[in-house]
Amino acid sequence: MSAAGKKLEYGDYQTPAELADASCRVLAWLLVRPQSILEPTCGMGSFLKAAVETFRDAAMAKGFDINAAYVGMARSLLDQVTGAPEVSVERANFFDMDWASVVASLPQPLLVLGNPPWVTNSTLGCVGSDNLPEKSNFQNHAGLDAVTGKSNFDISEYMLIRLSEALQGKDATLAMLCKTAVARKVMGYCWRKGLEMGDCHIFPIDAQRDFGAAVEACLFVASFNGRGKDQSCIVHDDFKPASQCTHLGFRNGLLISNVEGYAEWGFLRGETGYTWRSGVKHDCARVMEFTERDGKLVNGFGESVDIEDEFVYPLLKSSAVAGSRRAGERWVLVTQRSVGEDTSPIARAAPRTWRYLLAHAEWLDNRASIIYKKRPRFCVFGIGEYSFAPWKVAISGFYKRLDFRVIGPRLGRAVMLDDTAYFLGCNEESEAVLLADLLNSAPARGLLSSLVFWDAKRPITADVLSQVSIERLAAHLGKDCVLKQSSQNTRSKNPQLDLFCDALA
Ligand SMILES: C[S@@+](CC[C@H](N)C(=O)[O-])C[C@H]1O[C@@H](n2cnc3c(N)ncnc32)[C@H](O)[C@@H]1O
Repeated sequence: MSAAGKKLEYGDYQTPAELADASCRVLAWLLVRPQSILEPTCGMGSFLKAAVETFRDAAMAKGFDINAAYVGMARSLLDQVTGAPEVSVERANFFDMDWASVVASLPQPLLVLGNPPWVTNSTLGCVGSDNLPEKSNFQNHAGLDAVTGKSNFDISEYMLIRLSEALQGKDATLAMLCKTAVARKVMGYCWRKGLEMGDCHIFPIDAQRDFGAAVEACLFVASFNGRGKDQSCIVHDDFKPASQCTHLGFRNGLLISNVEGYAEWGFLRGETGYTWRSGVKHDCARVMEFTERDGKLVNGFGESVDIEDEFVYPLLKSSAVAGSRRAGERWVLVTQRSVGEDTSPIARAAPRTWRYLLAHAEWLDNRASIIYKKRPRFCVFGIGEYSFAPWKVAISGFYKRLDFRVIGPRLGRAVMLDDTAYFLGCNEESEAVLLADLLNSAPARGLLSSLVFWDAKRPITADVLSQVSIERLAAHLGKDCVLKQSSQNTRSKNPQLDLFCDALA
C-alpha cells in the first residue's frame, strides 16, 4: 500500500507540537492535575511530550501505537525531556487492548489524552483494511440503519466510547482531539446508557489549518470524577476556557444543542400524528434523473431519452427546496410506488421505459449500496404513497436554514424530492399552507434551533423534525381547531391523526 493509503488506513494525522502544547495548557487551566498520563494512539509522541512537560507532578506516562516506527520516534522524543516522569511507549493495537486493566494499573488522577485516528469504518471498507473493531455494529442499529448511513462510524468514536467505559468510577479526565460530531456522539452514547461523563467541554480547533481536514473538530474534554452530573457540555467559541459559550445537553433521551433555548421551547416537543419522510433515493442520478432540452428529456450522459410519461415525475432537489429554483427543471424516473414493489410490470405498462432501464441496467445493477441487493431490479428507496401526495411541506436537510416550503403539483403530477430533503405529505393545499405556517412560526423555530447542530453534515433530519409536536404547536398558537378541521381531510389516510383528532373532540 502507498504511503498515502497507509495514512488513510490509520487515520494518521500527527498533531502539531503547538496544538498539543495549547491543548495541555487548556487542561491545566481547567485544573487537571494528573498523577499519570495515558496516550492510547500516541503516534510520534507530540501529545505525550506536551503532557509530561505541562504536568510536571505526574509520576508516570504510558503511550501506545500500532506503528512500530512511531513507537521508536516517540521514545526518542520523550528521551529528550529532562526531568520527565517514568515513561513507557509500546507497540499495540488499540482493538486488542484491555483498557480497563491498563487504567487500573495507573495512579489517579489519570489523564487520558491524544488524537485518535481520523477515519471511518466505511472508508476502511473501501480500502479493504481491517483496522477495525471486531464488532462494527456496536451501536446496535437495526434493519436498514445497520447497512446504511447510520451504521457508518468514526474509528475514534468507537475508541472514545471504549475508553469512557474503562474510566467509569475513576478519578480521570479524557481529553481528545476529534471531530465535533464524534464528541457529541460519545456524550450521547454515554448519557443514553447512564454512564458517567461529567464536566464536559468542547473547544473548537481549526482542523483545516492543523490537519488539512475540512471538518468541524475540537478538543473534547470530559471528566470522570463523580462531579458534573447534569449531562451538559460547555461549548466554547474559542480555544480558551474563558471564551464565550453555549451549553449542549441531554434532555429526555435526546442530545440538545442549546439547553437554554430548550428550557424555553422544550414544551413543544412531544408525540405527533405527522410522519416526516425523506425524498426518493436511487443512487444513480445519471440514469434516473433528467433535465429538459427543447422539450425533450436528457439524462446525465447527455442522451436524449424517449420514454412514456407514466413513471416520470417532476423533481425538486434539496438545493432547490432551500433556494428558489422552480420545480420541473428536473425530472426523475420513479419505478415503484412502494418499497419492494415488483418492477417487472413496467415492461408491459411502459415498454419504452423498460427498454431504457434495460439499456442502462449496467449502472443500476452495480449500485454499490447493499440496500439494492436482493431487491427488485431497478428499485428505488424512500418511496410510498406519501411520495405521491400532491402537496408537500418540505425542508432541505443540508442547508442551514429553518425554512419550510409549500410544494404543489406541477403539470398535474406530484413533485418528488431527493433523499436529502424531508417533507410532510398533504392532500390539500390549505393543509400544507397551515403546516408550513406553524413550522415557520417563532415557537417552532425556537424549539428546532435548540435541537439542531448547525455544524453537522446534515443538520436537519427526520429524527429532529419529528420532535416537534405539531399538535402542541397548533394549540400554543391558537390554531388547533383549524388544524383539526384541515386534518379531517386526511383522516382516513392517517390513523394516528384520528387518535389526536378524537382526543381534541
Ligand atoms: C491522528 S494520529 C495521532 C497521533 C498522535 N496521537 C498525535 O496526537 O500526534 C492517529 C494515530 O493512531 C495510530 N493508530 C491507528 N490505528 C491504530 C490502532 N488500531 N491501534 C493503535 N494505534 C492506531 C496511528 O498510527 C496514528 O499514529
